[in-house]
Amino acid sequence: MDWAMKLLVALLALVAPGFSLENGLMRTPPMGWLAWERYRCSINCHEDPDNCINERLFMAMADRLAEDGWRELGYVYVNIDDCWMALQRDEGGVLVPDPERFPSGIRALADYVHSRGLKLGIYGDMGSMTCMGYPGTTLATVALDAQTFASWGVDMLKLDGCYSSSLERALGYPAMAKALNNTGRPIGYSCSWPAYDGGLPPEVNYTLLADICNLWRNFDDIEDSWQSVLSIVDWFSEHQDVLQPMAGPGHWNDPDMLLIGNYGLSFEQAKAQMALWTVLAAPLFMSTDLRAISPQNVDILQNKLMIRINQDPLGIQGRRVLKTKHHIEVFVRPLSKDASAVVFFSRRTDMPYRYRTSLGALNFTGHALYEAQDVYTENVISGLTRDTDFTVVINPSGVVMWHVYPIVGKESLPWL
Ligand SMILES: *[C@@H]1O[C@H](CO)[C@@H](O)[C@H](O)[C@H]1NC(C)=O
Ligand SMILES: *[C@@H]1O[C@H](CO)[C@@H](O)[C@H](O)[C@H]1NC(C)=O
Ligand SMILES: *[C@@H]1O[C@H](CO)[C@@H](O)[C@H](O)[C@H]1NC(C)=O
Repeated sequence: MDWAMKLLVALLALVAPGFSLENGLMRTPPMGWLAWERYRCSINCHEDPDNCINERLFMAMADRLAEDGWRELGYVYVNIDDCWMALQRDEGGVLVPDPERFPSGIRALADYVHSRGLKLGIYGDMGSMTCMGYPGTTLATVALDAQTFASWGVDMLKLDGCYSSSLERALGYPAMAKALNNTGRPIGYSCSWPAYDGGLPPEVNYTLLADICNLWRNFDDIEDSWQSVLSIVDWFSEHQDVLQPMAGPGHWNDPDMLLIGNYGLSFEQAKAQMALWTVLAAPLFMSTDLRAISPQNVDILQNKLMIRINQDPLGIQGRRVLKTKHHIEVFVRPLSKDASAVVFFSRRTDMPYRYRTSLGALNFTGHALYEAQDVYTENVISGLTRDTDFTVVINPSGVVMWHVYPIVGKESLPWL
């Protein structure tokens, strides 16, 4: 056998079936802030000191998360994306941060983030280099890089997949899961693996992903546009039979970051993205300037009922159950205590649409009486039976979102 084959056999033995990460993390979808969508690889700190990838940016976002009510709602991850590294590893082969932009080092940044009651996420790339050309994690450096991240006190790793072959990914992603586990430090593991292999079986084995990753990026990177949101929602809906069953406590499909607070979405579209991500049991990673976000956008992102639904302990991903010829779509997510989240979504571009339906038409069964609360207006709609016709008024590229729960009447509780 040549050396490559020996390596392959050794690595395959390492990732023998049945291996599972079981780090106990992310029993509900992770929430926090991730740099990429808003800040990309902006490294010119001389020209744009407040909006470049450096330690001050992450400390500033940690301050906002801790002081503006985000942390208490569950937004606890402060996550670095690409472009934090120096262009070369050190003499020992260890990844090092850019010395000008991260002069205090990642350990110090982790300490700062932890002192604010938050968690730090970092970024690596399974491949010869990161997407933006920084040092990649190869099969030979998986264990070393996992040790490095753990020694810095990192709490989460996003492992991207640029500049790798399908075989390297098939070996590397499970090897990193094992290496993270070997560090003894619980580190949430976000795998970009499926997005690099088309996102679907047979190339992607979601059973294996759910065993070794806490979340995974299935599809394209989100861009700051409504078009991008729609393409993601459509792809996830078209493939929901494959994707929906794979989500659950500790392992989530990730349709990518929230755009809310940036430039591409209208107010209605921002509310729609939040509602759709919540009904899909998606991780909620904001990627916006929390120092400058408007109160309107804060209200969307800090909606308590929305977050309670996103974080429902059953962790069941919702599905698109209906697509009408009038360009209305309905999504339903089952929740604990027999409740459900229902999102009425308009793809129309004319005017607010009066959509008439009933819970029976949405296949609600099993209870005589329901109540619904509108997640955005907080209005309560009482006395709904399966046969009650109701009308929701849905704005163009907007949503109406309901939290629907059964009312257990006195008549069904004979001891009362
Ligand atoms: C490593 O995996 C084992 C078995 O799956 C698990 O019990 C343990 O908690 C894991 N440790 C870490 C640090 O993830
Ligand atoms: C997918 O991975 C699981 C868990 O490792 C394994 O049992 C199963 O055989 C794999 N499925 C395919 C089609 O390779
Ligand atoms: C309701 O159930 C029927 C029968 O299983 C199915 O054909 C229909 O598509 C379902 N409708 C919705 C909105 O889920």
